[in-house]
Amino acid sequence: MKARVFSGVQPSGQLHIGNYLGALKSWAEIQSRYESIFCIVDLHAVTIYQNPEELSAKIRETAALFIAAGIDPQQSSIIVQSSISGHAELAWLLTCVTPVGWLNRMTQYKAKAEKQETVSDGLLQYPVLMAADILLYQASIVPVGEDQSQHLELARDVAQRFNSLYGETFVMPATHLPTVGARIMGLDDPTQKMSKSAPGAGHAISLLDEPKIVQKKIVRATTDSQPEVNLETMGPGIANLLTIGLACDPSLTRESVAGMRYGDLKKRIAEAVIARLAPIQQRYREITADPSYIDGVLREGKARTSPIAEDTLRTAKRAMGLYVLR
Ligand code: AMP
Ligand code: TRP
Repeated sequence: MKARVFSGVQPSGQLHIGNYLGALKSWAEIQSRYESIFCIVDLHAVTIYQNPEELSAKIRETAALFIAAGIDPQQSSIIVQSSISGHAELAWLLTCVTPVGWLNRMTQYKAKAEKQETVSDGLLQYPVLMAADILLYQASIVPVGEDQSQHLELARDVAQRFNSLYGETFVMPATHLPTVGARIMGLDDPTQKMSKSAPGAGHAISLLDEPKIVQKKIVRATTDSQPEVNLETMGPGIANLLTIGLACDPSLTRESVAGMRYGDLKKRIAEAVIARLAPIQQRYREITADPSYIDGVLREGKARTSPIAEDTLRTAKRAMGLYVLR
């Protein structure tokens, strides 16, 4: 039997090249070797208020982008988290074995909570729901960007605690980070992670940005006061551009750009990004031309994965002594 892979993306904004290079690209690369499930985690998105109309459009848009980025719906299951009730149900069981102190320590929770006027309980429970997503399918490999490492450690801790209290139930999931692109920084501020929610037109490159826009954003990206690439002394802005360039075009190695003037470098990087995005955007247009296609893919994903979810949930409930109909 093939090992199982699970990962997810929140449908809470425009997907950007950080999401692509950190997650989607490795999903597409590894999907043939595993039994893969890729999830649109809408229940995670609503831990912070989302406009309902925009959210429901974004769920389908995100699914279309998964496929456009190379996820093959024949080979991998694409699912929407809220359409499979086991995610929320297992999350409850896991909250009951998770000490609140573990959640209060999560750095993403602290960073997000700081920006909210009122912090929802869901935001605190966010990592438990994420653990439930993974454990529900007994996934052993979770391909994500580096910002999710702490959440994955917590998922393992929760699984271990459940197993030690109630007996071996869950498979331990391993974190899989890409070798290049695990942490892409904002173009306007290379000390901040590129994120969907950051304001500023020059912050992120969206997967659907037109070539002209991509070019403009890269040309304007924050660098440093040196004229050309010096691999020893370059600042974080240039280092980030080099990472983006190399992740988009493997021939753009550090050695190949050493000594290049910043203006020329930015042109080369922009070309590499535009060439990477072109087939994704083309495929996205084809997919979205038929509005019923995505719903079909999501229905099939649910049909394939629901039996696994139900099975795990039954096992976990039984282990805890909860009532399971015979
Ligand atoms: P999110 O946008 O938070 O739903 O993230 C979806 C996936 O993209 C997760 O695997 C993240 O780790 C990854 N990701 C998000 N932002 C970045 C970034 N700036 N660099 C690399 N990976 C990222
Ligand atoms: N928290 C992840 C993020 O924002 C998304 C996510 C939810 C996820 N559930 C998951 C990723 C399970 C991997 C596995 O990036």
